[in-house]
Amino acid sequence: MKQCCGGAVDEFRFYEAQKIELPASLQEFIDQWKDKPGNLIMILHRVQEEYGYVPRQIAMKVAKELDQPLAKIYGVITFYHLFRLTKAGKHTIKVCIGTACYLKGADMIIEEIQELLGIHVGETTDDGRFSLEGVRCLGCCGLAPVVMIDNDVYGEVDKANLADILGKYSE
Ligand code: FES
Repeated sequence: MKQCCGGAVDEFRFYEAQKIELPASLQEFIDQWKDKPGNLIMILHRVQEEYGYVPRQIAMKVAKELDQPLAKIYGVITFYHLFRLTKAGKHTIKVCIGTACYLKGADMIIEEIQELLGIHVGETTDDGRFSLEGVRCLGCCGLAPVVMIDNDVYGEVDKANLADILGKYSE
């Protein structure tokens, strides 16, 4: 009998993930942290350092290694803004969603960027050019709302100027 539900597909991937051989230094790190408190955050940081994001197959492998449900791993990944679920783009756009920026319309800035690029926060454009992140306070609240692209900081950003700003990174 054929199984076609998402659960069965995930189960198959979960099974496949067990066969993945991790880089030796990562496996060693997991073995070291396996039984220590706070291990999940430490291991996810190490995974992100290795791959630049947390690939689903590796999240499954970590779940197996720690004997934890995959939902718990994803609960931690999505709760903290530090973890990425997709590979970072060539340029990283960080929109500050700290209080000062939020009060000055950071949510509208995010909406406009999502519209312009066709991605959501935490995603990367198909061409790999941009990834979009929401971050807590970039340390220049007097310039709210603030957007940072790579190492460039843009203050008092108006959503009408976003297309021009992004255009600078399009070549
Ligand atoms: S709240 Fe946005 S820079 Fe501080």
